[in-house]
This record gives sequence, C-alpha cells and structure tokens, in this order.
Amino acid sequence: MKRIILVFILAAAVMYGILHGNLWRNNFYWLSFYGQTSPVRASPSYVTSGVTISYNQLPPTAVERRNALDTCLLKPAFESLLGVDKIYPFLCANDFIRVAEFQGSNKFELPYGIKRAEQFFRLALSRLQNCGLSSEEDSIPCRRCVVVGNGGVLRNKTLGEKIDSYDVIIRMNNGPVIGYEEDVGRRTTFRLSYPESIFSDPIHYDPNTTVVLIVFKPRDLKWLWEILGGQKISAKGFWKKPALNMIYKSSQIRILDPSITRKTAYEWLHFPTRFPKKEKPKHPTTGLIAITLAFHICHEVHLAGFKYDFTDRNSSLHYYGNETMSQMMQNEYHNITAEQKFLKKLIDKNFVVNLT
Ligand SMILES: *[C@@H]1O[C@H](CO)[C@@H](O)[C@H](O)[C@H]1NC(C)=O
Ligand SMILES: *[C@@H]1O[C@H](CO)[C@@H](O)[C@H](O)[C@H]1NC(C)=O
Ligand SMILES: *[C@@H]1O[C@H](CO)[C@@H](O)[C@H](O)[C@H]1NC(C)=O
Ligand SMILES: *[C@@H]1O[C@H](CO)[C@@H](O)[C@H](O)[C@H]1NC(C)=O
Ligand SMILES: *[C@@H]1O[C@H](CO)[C@@H](O)[C@H](O)[C@H]1NC(C)=O
Repeated sequence: MKRIILVFILAAAVMYGILHGNLWRNNFYWLSFYGQTSPVRASPSYVTSGVTISYNQLPPTAVERRNALDTCLLKPAFESLLGVDKIYPFLCANDFIRVAEFQGSNKFELPYGIKRAEQFFRLALSRLQNCGLSSEEDSIPCRRCVVVGNGGVLRNKTLGEKIDSYDVIIRMNNGPVIGYEEDVGRRTTFRLSYPESIFSDPIHYDPNTTVVLIVFKPRDLKWLWEILGGQKISAKGFWKKPALNMIYKSSQIRILDPSITRKTAYEWLHFPTRFPKKEKPKHPTTGLIAITLAFHICHEVHLAGFKYDFTDRNSSLHYYGNETMSQMMQNEYHNITAEQKFLKKLIDKNFVVNLT
C-alpha cells in the first residue's frame, strides 16, 4: 500500500513538472512578446465568429497586416468563396503562435498546422528578416494577378507578353522562365516552392522574386534554418534530393501560413482529414495552393497553364522537360480529379479567367 502511494506521489510530481514547465514556457512567450501573462484562448468557432470579434483576438500587428489586404473592395463572388476568414498568407516570427491559435492551426500537425513543430517554425522564422508582402506590391491597392501553372498547355501559345502585363505573377516550383520567355513571360513576383522543388542553380536567380516556402514536414523548417545559417545540408528525410544551396537572399523568403494549405485541402477540395492506412494521404498540388494564395492577396485572379490533357498519356505534362501525362496520372499523393473539378467550378462561376 505504501509503495502504491509513493508511486502516485512520484507520478504526480512528474506531471506537475511537465505541466508547470510547459505553462512557464508559454507564459514566458506571451510575456516577452505581448506584455501580458494570460494567453488568449483560440476560439473554437473561429470560422463563424464575427469579423469584429476575430480582429480583437488577433495581435495588433496581425490586424494591421490583414487590413492591408482589404484596401481594395472584393467582388461579392470572392467574398462568398473566402468567407469572413481572410488569412494573411505569411507567418511572422513575432506572432505566428497567436495567429495559429486564431486560425486553428495549433490543432493540426504539419503539413496543415504547427502543432508539435512550434520550435522548428520559431527557428526557421528567426532566420527571416521580414514577413510583409513584397514592398513593390504593398503600394498597389487592387492587384491583378495571374497564376502560371506549369502545364504543357503553355507550349507554343506565346502568352509571355500577356502574362508579364499583370501586377502580380505567381509561379510555382521549378517552372523555368529562362528559355521560355515567349510562352511564359519573364517576371515572377511570387514563387511557391518546397525544399525539393526550389531552384538551386543561380542561373534562375531573380532579385524581384519573393519565394514562398510551403512546409510539409519539420525537416523542411530545419532545412531552411540550416541553409540560411550556411550549414551543410544532409539529404536525409526528404522525398527526393532537396536544394543544397540557397540562391535567394533571406529577405526574399517567406513561410506560407499552413492555414492556406489546410483551406485548400479541406474546404475547397473536400479531402478527408484521415486516409485509410493502405492509401497515401492526398495533398493539394502546389498549383492549387498558389490559387488559394492568389485569392487572399489579389483583387482579380487569372490562370494560365492549368489544363491537363488526360486523353493523351504521351502529351507533355509541363511546358519544359520530358515528363508526360502518364506520370501525373500515376501520382499517388494528389487527387487530380478533385482539383480539375474544383478548377472547372472556379472557371464556370467566373471567379477566375482562364487564359489557356
Ligand atoms: C512548338 O514549336 C516548336 C517550334 O516551332 C516545335 O518544334 C514544337 O513541336 C512545338 N511544340 C508543340 C507542343 O506544339
Ligand atoms: C527587377 O525590377 C526592376 C524594377 O522594376 C527592373 O528594373 C529589373 O529589370 C528587374 N529585374 C529582373 C531580373 O527582372
Ligand atoms: C505513347 O508512347 C509509347 C512509347 O513511346 C507508344 O508505344 C504509344 O503508342 C504512345 N501512345 C500514343 C497514344 O501516342
Ligand atoms: C529530354 O529528352 C531528350 C531526348 O530524349 C534529352 O536529350 C533531354 O536531356 C531530356 N530533357 C530532360 C530535361 O530530361
Ligand atoms: C478524388 O476526389 C473525388 C471527388 O472529387 C473522389 O470521388 C475520389 O474518390 C478521390 N480519389 C481518391 C483516390 O482519393
């Protein structure tokens, strides 16, 4: 009996240590950044809560950033697609935890949230100088954007000049500009990438580009921390070989808020939150994530290069390289059917203009 009581007391002591340690850490965080000791609880009804209440729950800097997105009145159609829940798309070192609580990202693990990876996010964000929309874009109140997919449909369409005429040009992964200017244009405002898809050859460097990093796993954040700290990168833990050197300045890099990807997966593509063990979990393609990003920062969204030719398995998958459609159709990590269905809805409802 005595022994049992002793075990109980020991267990209680350990629990107290763990909880107290955690609380202390949290409080320290709030204290250091917000000058208050009680963390504001995330509202479980964040989706339905009114705008005023929502704004009150966000730290002041995040409210300012969100207001900056609202300088241009949205079309009613956009509003209905986005709901009241307009997300500032990039994480900032000083308030990402608070923003995550507000968005509900603290309840999801990567790739769609920050749960259990907070320290990795903190480390990676500590290497970045700023989290603003790029300075050039801040001055434009109503942004006309084009999202350039990497689809083979762009070949020989000479859309380059048209694409370059937009305020904001969003590209993705390693879709090259050099050598394809006539078909895809020269300018790149944002480029969405992850460690396995970011350019590492300096030939692709563009000083006017902001790289938006999509984080899928803690390793990606460690990679960013290491590579910006000039450390040697081990290729362990990646889907395929990641970039081993960084061609962009740290001031050009942002980390995408996982809420954007989560919204794409669950609200727009209606992916289940759990997949059977035998099945690979499906994630949105970078293209769909880029479109969601565009809806959050643009007044008008046009698309190019998003059409796939499913009838010819030998047709080119991309406007560059030799990959064919059959490779895309075998991809187990995406649900192309769901994405094409959603794109068709966007186009049919005139939410976007499709150039190709
Ligand atoms: C594009 O044009 C080039 C040169 O005119 C030609 O060699 C190539 O086959 C064309 N590609 C497609 C997909 O039409
Ligand atoms: C970057 O932007 C500046 C100013 O708009 C422009 O003069 C320059 O040519 C651009 N550089 C590249 C590589 O596009
Ligand atoms: C596709 O390519 C394969 C091998 O290159 C060939 O055998 C097949 O006939 C082609 N199919 C079509 C529809 O062109
Ligand atoms: C595409 O195929 C051609 C000929 O088969 C080859 O020379 C070229 O290196 C390939 N390009 C890429 C990007 O794989
Ligand atoms: C892909 O999404 C569609 C709904 O758009 C669904 O019917 C289908 O089962 C999904 N496929 C997989 C493999 O998850």
